[in-house]
Amino acid sequence: MLIPVILSGGAGTRLWPVSREGHPKPFMKLADGQSLLLKTYLRAAGVAQVGEMLTVTNRDYFFMSKDELANAKLGENLPGVFMLEPVGRNTAPAVAMAALHIAEKYGRDARLLVLAADHLIQDQPAFAKAVVDATSLAADDYLVTFGIVPDAPETGFGYIEAGEAVGAGKAVKRFVEKPSLDKARSYLEAGNFLWNSGMFCFKAGTVLDELAVHAPDVLKACEACWAAMKECGSRIDAMLEIPAEAFGEVPDISVDYAIMERSSKVAVVPADIGWSDIGSWNAIRDLAVPDADSNRAVGDAIFVDTRNTYVQSEDRLVAAVGIDNLMIIDTPDALLVAHPDKAQEVKQVVARLKQRD
Ligand code: GDD
Ligand code: MG
Repeated sequence: MLIPVILSGGAGTRLWPVSREGHPKPFMKLADGQSLLLKTYLRAAGVAQVGEMLTVTNRDYFFMSKDELANAKLGENLPGVFMLEPVGRNTAPAVAMAALHIAEKYGRDARLLVLAADHLIQDQPAFAKAVVDATSLAADDYLVTFGIVPDAPETGFGYIEAGEAVGAGKAVKRFVEKPSLDKARSYLEAGNFLWNSGMFCFKAGTVLDELAVHAPDVLKACEACWAAMKECGSRIDAMLEIPAEAFGEVPDISVDYAIMERSSKVAVVPADIGWSDIGSWNAIRDLAVPDADSNRAVGDAIFVDTRNTYVQSEDRLVAAVGIDNLMIIDTPDALLVAHPDKAQEVKQVVARLKQRD
C-alpha cells in the first residue's frame, strides 16, 4: 500500500503577487490552466498501488484544495482524505501526523509517498519509475529521497552526498539542508552531490521510529495532537482536523532538519524527471516559449523594440516599449516589475507588506 501525502501548507512568497497567503503557490495556475496542486494530484494518481490521497494543509485551504482534487477527477476508487492544520508548523509535524494516521489505518508497513504540492515534474513515466525504485528501498526501512543532478550552487535546497549503490538507489553519506553559498559551490564541484527534491518515500513505521530517535519532541507533541483529535471527535473519514490547542505546542521544524540531516538510514534515488520547484519567477518564465527577440508572454502582450522580457498578465493588455531584460507580472490589484537577476528578492515585498499590517 502506497499513500501519497501531499504537503501544501506553505505560502511561496517569491512568486508574489500571484502567490499570496490567501492564494498560495500550490493554487497558482500555469499557462495550461492547471494549478500546481492539480498537477500533483494527477502525478500521484499515476503511480502504481496508490491507496487514498492524503492532503495535509492549513484549514484555510480546505475548500480550495477539495475543488482541485475534484478537478483531477480521480474517481471513487481513490478516496481523498484531508488533514487540516490550524497553523503551519513546517513539514516535520505534517509528516509525523500523516504517518500516525497511516500507521493506524493501514499498519506500520504502509508506505508514504510525500510530495510537495508546488513542484513541476515534466517526465511522468520517469517519475513513476523512480517511485517504484523508491518504494522497494522504503520496504527495506530506508528513508528515501529523490535526488536531482544540480546545475547551480542553489542555497535554497538540501544537498545529498551519494555513496555506494543500494538496491535501485544509493546510500546517503551526508544530507546538508540549505548550505551556505561557499559550501553549495564546493558540493557542485565535488560532483557526487544531488539536490534533495523535497519528495520522500518511507514506511510509516520507519519514519515514526526515526522521529522517536532524532526528534522526540516533535513526535511526542504530534502524538498528543493525535490523542486530542480522537478525544474531541474531530475525525470523520475524509477530514481530520487537528485541534488548535494541541498543535500550538508542536515545534516548528522541517523534515529535512528534523530527520533527514540526522538519520543514518537515508537512501537516494537519482531521478532525471524534468523537476523544477518553481522557486522564482525565472522558473515560470522559462516554461513559456520565447519569440525571436527572446520575449515571452502569458496573457495579452505587445513587445516593441524589446528583448529578453517576460510578461504575465491576467486580464489586461501589457505593452513593453524599448525594454531589455525585465519581468512584468500584472494582476488585478498588484503589479510586479522586477529584474530577473533579483527574482529571489521578490519575497522581500511580502516581508515589507507584513510590516505595513
Ligand atoms: N501541510 C504543510 N504544513 N505543508 C507545508 C508546511 C506546513 O506547515 N510548510 C511547508 N509545506 C509544504 C509546502 O507547501 C511545500 O509543498 C513543501 O511543504 C515544502 O516546503 P517548502 O517551504 O517549499 O520547503 P523548501 O522549498 O524551503 O525546502 C524543501 O524543498 C526543497 C526542494 O524544493 C526541502 O525539502 C529542501 O531540502 C529541498 O531541496
Ligand atoms: Mg519549496
